[in-house]
Amino acid sequence: MSDHTERECDVLIIGSGAAGLTLALKLADENPDIKLIVISKGPISEGSTSKAQGGIAAVCDVYADNDSIDSHISDTLIAGAGLCERSAVEFTVRNAKESIQWLIKEGVDFDKMDDSDTDYHLTREGGHSHRRIFHAADATGKAVQDTLISQAVNHPQITVLEKFNVIDLVTTRKLGLPGNRVLGVYVLNCATGRVENIYARFTALCTGGASKVYQYTTNTEVSSGDGIAMAWRAGCRVANMEFNQFHPTTLYSSTDRNFLLSEALRGEGALLKRPDGTRFMPDYDSREELAPRDVVARAIDHEMKRLGADCMYLDISYKDSEFIRKHFPNIYERCLKAGIDITKEPIPVVPAAHYTCGGVMVDERALTDISNLYAVGEVSYTGLHGANRMASNSILECLVYAASAARDILGKLGSAQGIVKFPFWDDSQVTDSDEEVIIQHNWRELRMVMWDYVGIVRTNKRLQRAQHRIDLLKKEVREYYENFRITNNLLELRNLLQIADLVVRSALERKESRGLNYNTDYPDMLENSKPTVLTPNQ
Ligand code: FAD
Ligand code: SIN
Repeated sequence: MSDHTERECDVLIIGSGAAGLTLALKLADENPDIKLIVISKGPISEGSTSKAQGGIAAVCDVYADNDSIDSHISDTLIAGAGLCERSAVEFTVRNAKESIQWLIKEGVDFDKMDDSDTDYHLTREGGHSHRRIFHAADATGKAVQDTLISQAVNHPQITVLEKFNVIDLVTTRKLGLPGNRVLGVYVLNCATGRVENIYARFTALCTGGASKVYQYTTNTEVSSGDGIAMAWRAGCRVANMEFNQFHPTTLYSSTDRNFLLSEALRGEGALLKRPDGTRFMPDYDSREELAPRDVVARAIDHEMKRLGADCMYLDISYKDSEFIRKHFPNIYERCLKAGIDITKEPIPVVPAAHYTCGGVMVDERALTDISNLYAVGEVSYTGLHGANRMASNSILECLVYAASAARDILGKLGSAQGIVKFPFWDDSQVTDSDEEVIIQHNWRELRMVMWDYVGIVRTNKRLQRAQHRIDLLKKEVREYYENFRITNNLLELRNLLQIADLVVRSALERKESRGLNYNTDYPDMLENSKPTVLTPNQ
């Protein structure tokens, strides 16, 4: 008898954040016979969704105060610095109300106004010309994640596999069969250390972003760009990988690094200050503290370098302390643990890698270049964010495109081809590595190279240096991958290297500074600009 494990389902969903769980629930609720598997690399709750603070942007007419769909569209296009696909922006923004209503129906308890049981409290963030952000205090993501988990884990049609690390997609092309259709995946079961086969009629990558390619990031352990790397290896185009968003304000403390200080703080009046207490945002942009993120992050970076300072400061202490504690209870507590009372003193802040604006190219149905393969959420490039994502448009994108993918899959299910089995993973020729230190070292080196050479401010020389290091590391890791038994760290390093390569190649292709890609060798914006699309060698 074979000691290999194989599983099968109608739809395999890789990722259990807002994108993955929304897709699973939409499918399961519409089709009582559909069989789904949802996989998460870590615990089901781990990912960017559960960390989200500020909220979800949506114009829901009843609550909007002089706001409009057109204004949300226009703000998104402006933040995207001329590189958004207008159709994607319109599609997302017009479907925002339905997404919020669905979350409320599922049980998400967004904050309401003090004197109301029905009117929601809307906050504001950078780039938004109106208050239009639904939130659950300063922990909106946790409210969304917990609600979706509670619905999904009890659903009879959804099987959740936690701590399963997907290695690669299996496609007809990889097997030498005609066309390019996805058939399933090889996945490392972290509990047994064995590789399993999962066969599926449809597969969705909902694996989140790739910010872990940088040394300092607001993201959790799972954001290593696995979905983008897997899709690329399987033959999908990727776009706009040079646009890595750095969040301007993360906590700078010896005991707690990378904790996010929500942009909603600035939305509610927090001011950015130099170490001497003077403000600097008015010197950079007429929108001051509420300028889009790329502008604010660059201003902080510039001030830090100019003054040789370790950090800048975010100050909300002039506001009423009860208001601060009510609206930002988690931030208040977390800073207090680090020895900072935000009701009384400014918070030391530095930027950190936060969001991957580029990703796997998809259409309005979230369909990739490979038949039956979808990509939803931060892993994808829909065209919504352009050269810079506007705050609180990301979970919205997860929700809107998950609903769209679900509609497409449900429409195709009846006529889709059945399961195709593929060979088991063969590790008979490899041995256990006795040099794990090499993986650890390369992993640290890569993330530092990306931080130092491919960060907020770039130059051609730094990018070329980074490319050189990445090429060497890729070679070493390829040898490792071919000769030794796989581990989580090895899989992650292989994917991060692929991501780093795509980011640097895209940044080298862009001969201008726009949005999040700022290159001092090309300080100006070109008049005509297009998304950077990379196509894998077939
Ligand atoms: P995630 O929620 O990151 O989930 C990824 C899933 O994929 C996880 O389950 C993970 O285990 C799984 N996975 C990854 N690789 C593999 C693999 N190889 N095998 C198996 N499983 C895998 N956006 C907003 O709109 N509003 C906000 O207020 C906001 N605040 C934020 C605050 C923070 C600190 C951060 C980090 C992000 C914030 N964002 C915010 C961005 C937003 O949270 C994310 O873009 C969004 O939640 C991504 O959802 P997702 O479902 O695509 O991915
Ligand atoms: C924040 O709360 O500042 C993060 C919002 C986002 O990334 O959209």
